[in-house]
Amino acid sequence: MRQKLVIGNWKLHGSLAANAALLDGIKAAPAPARARLAVCAPFPYLAQCQAVLSGTTIGWGAQDVSAETRGAFTGEVAAPMLAEFGCAYVLVGHSERRSYHGETDAIVAAKTLRALESGLTPVVCVGETLAQREAGETEAVVGRQLAAVLDALSIEQLGRIVLAYEPVWAIGTGKTATSEQAQAVHAYLRKQVVAHGEGFADVAARLQILYGGSVKPDNAAELFSMSDIDGGLIGGASLKAEDFLAIGNA
Ligand code: PGA
Repeated sequence: MRQKLVIGNWKLHGSLAANAALLDGIKAAPAPARARLAVCAPFPYLAQCQAVLSGTTIGWGAQDVSAETRGAFTGEVAAPMLAEFGCAYVLVGHSERRSYHGETDAIVAAKTLRALESGLTPVVCVGETLAQREAGETEAVVGRQLAAVLDALSIEQLGRIVLAYEPVWAIGTGKTATSEQAQAVHAYLRKQVVAHGEGFADVAARLQILYGGSVKPDNAAELFSMSDIDGGLIGGASLKAEDFLAIGNA
């Protein structure tokens, strides 16, 4: 049985005061019985997350990581730095990074490796655009994005990642994939992992695959009830403690 995981992606939101209120609200509530919670905050607030969440069951992490470990890479933040701030998770290949920052599948694979080398759990995001879905290319697109990561990792490393399916057309749009649409893609992704090679069936069975894209308290339970959906990556609704907790309890 895979444990459910619900990760908040704060994106470019937050302030010391707003984060304190949000984190205190999340921390004060009883931990969800069947899901682990985590928040992915902007880099400057990781120390705050560490200070507030240390000793709780709530994890924290970053929204991106450099493909490099050190050197002349102005503005980059390396995986060992995230590890120093107690990060358990880091998002890699979010569609906003792929589309606004030109992250290729190769860069996403390199970032995944850097995260693993520092003991972080990379949350590898894949997803198709609306045009790609309408052209019937969903499986080809997410399959290609996944393959780039599978090809770069050993089976042991694959056992330490989390996958997130986030259809680009559902992110921040209020349009959620139906639970059947999401389940179909999740099942396809898991099948691709099985098919990657001999011995991959076990790691595929254990792989947590989260769904992201306009998950709200009122649609989370149905999405999370699907057999291959192991939790969610939550944007907008993770900024309100009440909504984030309701999703964690869904
Ligand atoms: P959303 O974002 O929940 O606001 O749609 C999800 C994400 O981009 O991770």
